[in-house]
Amino acid sequence: MPLVPMRVLLDHAAENDYGVAAFNVNNMEQIQAIMTAASRTESPVIIQASRGARSYSDDAYLRHLMLAAVELNPLIPIVMHQDHGNSPATCASAIEHNFTSVMMDGSLLEDAATPSDYEYNVRVTREVVELAHPHGVSVEGELGVLGSLETGQGEKEDGHGAEGVLSRDELVTDPEQAEDFVKQTGVDALAVAIGTSHGAYKFSRKPDAGVLVMDCIRDIHRRLPDTHIVMHGSSSVPQDLQDLFNSYGGQMRQTWGVPVEEIQEGIRHGVRKINVDTDNRIAMSAAVRQILMQHPDEFDPRKYLAPARDAMTDVCIARMTAFGMAGHAGAVPNTSMQAMANRYTSS
Ligand code: G3H
Ligand code: 13P
Ligand code: ZN
Repeated sequence: MPLVPMRVLLDHAAENDYGVAAFNVNNMEQIQAIMTAASRTESPVIIQASRGARSYSDDAYLRHLMLAAVELNPLIPIVMHQDHGNSPATCASAIEHNFTSVMMDGSLLEDAATPSDYEYNVRVTREVVELAHPHGVSVEGELGVLGSLETGQGEKEDGHGAEGVLSRDELVTDPEQAEDFVKQTGVDALAVAIGTSHGAYKFSRKPDAGVLVMDCIRDIHRRLPDTHIVMHGSSSVPQDLQDLFNSYGGQMRQTWGVPVEEIQEGIRHGVRKINVDTDNRIAMSAAVRQILMQHPDEFDPRKYLAPARDAMTDVCIARMTAFGMAGHAGAVPNTSMQAMANRYTSS
């Protein structure tokens, strides 16, 4: 089936009480890993590319790799999503390159580092909804700034995140404001800030309610039962992957991610999209380290990229299963972009 709008998939997830992992990609092996996991578990998928990924891999390569994923997996619904669009122009160019869903992250200004004000966020997000919906393209907005409640800081290691130290009010989405934001912008999905951050170093110990504010999700879901909630920075950074990475010469300091059972709790309260990148990065890097340390004479990239791809496949299968996606691929309606566009204009 052709690429599908994200809205269709998230509506199906809501009707059937599951969450959809959105995995980041930069290259062929990562797309292959996701598709292998999706086909083994019969899961629908969201494949997302950040601005950094788009410039690393080039839009043309990415578009054709996605078309290959569609061609090779005709029974799997696939969404192609722009992660953390920093401006309406970025989202418009994603739409030109076949993305079926875009995130306008107006929680930060276009520099992807300075927290914005509410009016700015509403204005740019509304603008993206107006340009995306006539094409049937779904829109994710973000209210609240991603960052750690332990340190007050966003994570800059991946090039996207707030600079400086932020207050708790900035780092936790205001549920009342969320209601107004969704009404004013018309977004299909809302990313919330609850103390998660991008990258490996999220929490200095297993997170409790003081630093991972799941109550905020419950409150937003009570007020906005029909809005699909998105959790960013949701890698779990499992201990076994940290240990594997370190046992082959890696130097990752002890850290904690978002426990899978907290994500499952979120799914019970309206979380429908869960962003995971770091876990796959660690799994792939640990596999590459292992091969190159065990076989220092090896120089055929396939010899380490294939195990890296297998390691990412394992992570994807684990998340697809834990989030309840498995087995749903065949039941997601095959709604075309045009049919989705018509649905938006008639509502
Ligand atoms: O936005 C966070 C994702 O992990 C993507 O990271 O900007 O380094 O591609 P990136
Ligand atoms: P992680 O860094 O926790 O994998 O989060 C990824 C993300 O939120 C991408 O938008
Ligand atoms: Zn994110």
